[in-house]
Amino acid sequence: MKYNKHIFICINERSKDSPKGDCTRKGGQEIRLRFVQLINKYGLKGKVRANKSGCLDACEMGAAVVIYPQGIWYTKVALEDVEEIFKSSVLGDEIVDRIASTQETWDELKRIRNK
Ligand code: FES
Repeated sequence: MKYNKHIFICINERSKDSPKGDCTRKGGQEIRLRFVQLINKYGLKGKVRANKSGCLDACEMGAAVVIYPQGIWYTKVALEDVEEIFKSSVLGDEIVDRIASTQETWDELKRIRNK
């Protein structure tokens, strides 16, 4: 495996009138930049990668971030959460419970979409 950790940050953009919203509106671009800054700060270029991602299908719960190889999903991520996510799930293998997605997250998403 080339990268020890691979972070995917949704930066998808929809038209302003889309009821689903999108992760760019919720700070996806800034969140990705912050991850890139932290990778550089910790000298992890080449070991950790922060990739722009297209829609991860969690739009209403954005911004959405996924970290591999653990496969940790974070939803409703704000810029202020990035450092904590980085320290816990990128430098370490911990999960930030308060924004980690659970079955409840996906159930809520389903509820929103079935309205
Ligand atoms: S727009 Fe980010 S998950 Fe769909």
